Amino acid sequence: MAATLSGVGIGLRPSTSSSTHKHSQHAQRRNWRSSVKMTVSIEEKKQKKFSLQKSEEAFNAAKELMPGGVNSPVRAFRSVGGQPIVFDSVKGSHMWDIDGNEYIDYVGSWGPAIIGHADDKVIAALTETMKKGTSFGAPCLLENVLAEMVIKAVPSIEMVRFVNSGTEACMGALRLARAFTGREKIIKFDGCYHGHADPFLVKAGSGVATLGLPDSPGVPKAATYETLVAPFNDLAAVEKLFEANKGEIAALILEPVVGNSGFIPPKPDFLNAIRKITRENGALLMFDEVMTGFRLSYGGAQEYFGITPDITTLGKIIGGGLPVGAYGGRREIMEMVAPAGPMYQAGTLSGNPLAMTAGLHTLKRLQEPGSYEYLDKITGELVQGILEAGKKAGHAMCGGHIRGMFGFFFTEGPVYNFDDAKKSDASKFARFYQGMLAEGVYFAPSQFEAGFTSLAHTGEDIQRTIEAAEKVLKQI
Ligand SMILES: Cc1ncc(COP(=O)(O)O)c(C=O)c1O
Repeated sequence: MAATLSGVGIGLRPSTSSSTHKHSQHAQRRNWRSSVKMTVSIEEKKQKKFSLQKSEEAFNAAKELMPGGVNSPVRAFRSVGGQPIVFDSVKGSHMWDIDGNEYIDYVGSWGPAIIGHADDKVIAALTETMKKGTSFGAPCLLENVLAEMVIKAVPSIEMVRFVNSGTEACMGALRLARAFTGREKIIKFDGCYHGHADPFLVKAGSGVATLGLPDSPGVPKAATYETLVAPFNDLAAVEKLFEANKGEIAALILEPVVGNSGFIPPKPDFLNAIRKITRENGALLMFDEVMTGFRLSYGGAQEYFGITPDITTLGKIIGGGLPVGAYGGRREIMEMVAPAGPMYQAGTLSGNPLAMTAGLHTLKRLQEPGSYEYLDKITGELVQGILEAGKKAGHAMCGGHIRGMFGFFFTEGPVYNFDDAKKSDASKFARFYQGMLAEGVYFAPSQFEAGFTSLAHTGEDIQRTIEAAEKVLKQI
């Protein structure tokens, strides 16, 4: 919360090339640029009502420049109405938009910001690293440091490969599972998202569901032909798939706690049973811990539940806010990866010193005693407060949390899978969402996304959020 409003600026200078007037939209963009004032004074902020005028202007311009005005569809406000907010800066648990509005943030850049945004130590370390260059395209010592930390932390990982996103991590991990087993079929769960590589774009949860797209055009049938789908938490469905495809399943991949259909934990013993059935069938168990890794505990969901998969994918937190991903597993499996083995996978910027620096300093902070107890405490209070407020206001609601990950639905529940999640009252969520925004609380703009807290969230943040929820839930 140390950020002040002075210095709020979009950092864009009018481009001289825009004076070529290629299209009429250029005029619109110019207007937008000149209308965004570089600073918002504290006094101005005190007096102003909640307005998103500058965000709206910037987003209207963005729509002419980028598809849908965003660089990732989940950022669009399609399911909650209105327009995305355009942000200027983040610090700790708070965010500031270009209109000068301040928000308590529960998106955390979709997960990475577990120690709070723009942590002073991370920024200082990045500044030092940057002086030596941003990318070598050759080995650097920092890769060893982060690799050692990841291997030490995550029970299933004996060797790791760093990549640049969660998508890449899952894509590489899938190829590896197929290479190692010599089989091609995979099982995934309805509502689990594993990045946007073709074979995973079947029943892929939040992003696709929020836009109301069944699957993506452009994905060839052949790419998803070997992808089998079961409802989450449905062991009988998984058993049937193994039975019908004996000796053909390379791997079963899942989010051990689903975050991409909203927050859905596994039923007791579900993960155990999945572990058993994959082992019995010679298939690899892949935990996609891009979201849960270092969030449910320092060793991820696998440490939290005491289930060790064969391959694990990571992302988000291990890059501390810079683009990163990783996959890892037992040595004998990982030694299939080039150049140790024949399975090809590569990356120009993989393991770059900046991402490694941000990641390792984020993990160091998480190692401090009490980190996960703190996340558990504040997140529990938050969810309980919201659910109680909902009950008082007469809404059917359910929800839960594990450590720094949470979610709630506008339905009685229980929610065990994506079909259950879809029973949530989407229009009520949209009204709740808009009300909370106006109260200065930023949740993910979809009913089908998990929420995230951070070590920077204070008791006061939680209290203010619950008070805002009490007010808004009475109004909707
Ligand atoms: C569980 C899971 N896997 C994979 C991904 C893809 O990661 P990225 O967006 O970094 O490509 C995500 C992204 O949200 C995710 O939540």
